[in-house]
Amino acid sequence: MMVGRKVGIVGAGFVGATAAYTLTMLGTCHEVVLYDINPDVAKGKAIDIGQSTSYSPQGTIVTAAESAADLKDCDIVVITAGVPRRSEMTRADLLMINAKIMKDVVGNIVKYSPDAIILCVSNPLDVMTYVVHKMTGWDRNRIIGMAGALDGARMAYQIHKKVGYGSGQTRAMIIGDHGLNMIPCPEISAVGGVPLDQIISQKDMEDIIDRTKEGGAEIVKHLGTSAYYAPGRSIAVMVQAILDDSRLVMPSSVLLKGEYGYNDITVGVPVVLGANGIENIIELELNDEVKAKFKVSVDSIQENINILKDNNFFD
Ligand code: LAC
Repeated sequence: MMVGRKVGIVGAGFVGATAAYTLTMLGTCHEVVLYDINPDVAKGKAIDIGQSTSYSPQGTIVTAAESAADLKDCDIVVITAGVPRRSEMTRADLLMINAKIMKDVVGNIVKYSPDAIILCVSNPLDVMTYVVHKMTGWDRNRIIGMAGALDGARMAYQIHKKVGYGSGQTRAMIIGDHGLNMIPCPEISAVGGVPLDQIISQKDMEDIIDRTKEGGAEIVKHLGTSAYYAPGRSIAVMVQAILDDSRLVMPSSVLLKGEYGYNDITVGVPVVLGANGIENIIELELNDEVKAKFKVSVDSIQENINILKDNNFFD
């Protein structure tokens, strides 16, 4: 455990609370602060998670923020706040609502934790990560969108279901947006270092890719709400890599400045996570087919950013 390290979590819903619980069970940090628009929710969950630490050796302190001021001096702030789309809302309505929530949240983080690294988890993920960039004006290494960690875990799960071995040894690379245009890259994914094309047929691979892309929606279909266990675990992996300065390679949504031929857009690519947040962006050599898919993915994110621009959100 990194003694003294404090992680703030904005939004104590299922994803935020599961991230808090996972960090606590792993003993990743000294203190977790839960902040929610509804202070009672944050308080109830902080007490419950705090009581679970009785049986864990690290004894992480879990508190609820009474106000945003309690997010003071966090090393990392995870943003999970936002509303899901309701039937009467257009996509533009949802974007504007969540972007406005993000604006308030980011204002508090800049005020109370000016040196933090921000991990954005709110949806639509890549667009909200872009909003956090614009609202903070911080260096891009300190703003990271969590998507590839989760989508990669979902692909690894599908691979394991097909082959029946290599659990915990499967690494799946996914680039692009956190949505239907995401790009699973089987050619650079492996089970215990064994390339996928040596153990999985083309047909099975197509099935794995389809199931991965539908991974989030499949859970919503069953539960009526978004996933939270795998998202919570994925958040914890990234927080741990940053606090431990472990230089973990993880696809994450990051602001591109010329890499992959794009500028001023946030999209998922492999990065190195360490004490400074994003230590390095890895530029994969993409073949023409993947390049074309990457463009579709970037365009879909840009389209949403343009909706915000057209509604004068950034003015
Ligand atoms: C998902 C949400 C959490 O993919 O982004 O399940």
